[in-house]
Amino acid sequence: MTTHGTLLRGKPLAHELNRSLAARVQRDAQNGPRPPCLCTVLVGDDPPSALYVRAKQRAAKQAGLFTQHHQLPADTAQKTLLCLIHRLNADDAVDGILVQLPLPDHINTQTVLRAVDPAKDVDGFHPLNVGLLHAGTPRFIPCTPRACLFLLHHARVPLAGARAVVVGRSAIVGQPMARLLLGEHATVTVCHSRTTDLAAVTAEADVIIAAAGRPHLLGREHVKPGATVIDVGTRRDAAGKLRGDVDTDAVLPVVHAITPVPGGVGPLTIAMLLENTYIARRGMPAK
Ligand code: GUN
Repeated sequence: MTTHGTLLRGKPLAHELNRSLAARVQRDAQNGPRPPCLCTVLVGDDPPSALYVRAKQRAAKQAGLFTQHHQLPADTAQKTLLCLIHRLNADDAVDGILVQLPLPDHINTQTVLRAVDPAKDVDGFHPLNVGLLHAGTPRFIPCTPRACLFLLHHARVPLAGARAVVVGRSAIVGQPMARLLLGEHATVTVCHSRTTDLAAVTAEADVIIAAAGRPHLLGREHVKPGATVIDVGTRRDAAGKLRGDVDTDAVLPVVHAITPVPGGVGPLTIAMLLENTYIARRGMPAK
């Protein structure tokens, strides 16, 4: 008998989170505070980046947040971008600042990320916020790893003592993901482009987070029966179709659960960004 794994859909969960946030924002407004304000900055007109920023803006507006967007030409000088960020840091009407990545090659990404006020850093990319996460006292958790963990919790996947493998070591996803899983008491391995025999490592995993950005890097031979797979990949193929890092059709018959692409992690990532913007405005919700 062939059993099939469950598809972990993020879209309805994101919808629910966004509705709950909208209700909080509306309730707060009755007591006085203005809604949180998210400010996005996009340098250049890379189509996928423009698409992501538009999706973030749309979701923020739908949840009743205030928004600002600054669109700068691709040849903007680093100094000009830093001036804008300093202005937004000082602006009390702005709670969250998101500089969409990647930035053009002539701009030093680290310098720009360090310029954002850590208290407005809703991406969680400033070294101070990276440090707080690694110290175990996070303020802003990067949105994509936070979305992955939310999905694992929602699906009630046991993490304490589980063998978790993160594929990809980016500062945006792989590294913070590994730290979050350690915080859940998983035994964590991080694989990357220099890993020899990737399949031997991932095939031992109870939980796989695929965040390498390489379409269909993982197939049936990479996955242990009963494993849970979170697919962060979002590359477009020649036909413009979004492709994950995992060959979903090949692994679905054997996994416990897997996120689809699209409609898995992506929508939740935006929901987490809105939550971080709320935190920037109102502080951490009480535990
Ligand atoms: N580019 C790809 N993912 C992200 C993200 O989470 N935040 C920002 N600012 N840029 C990105």
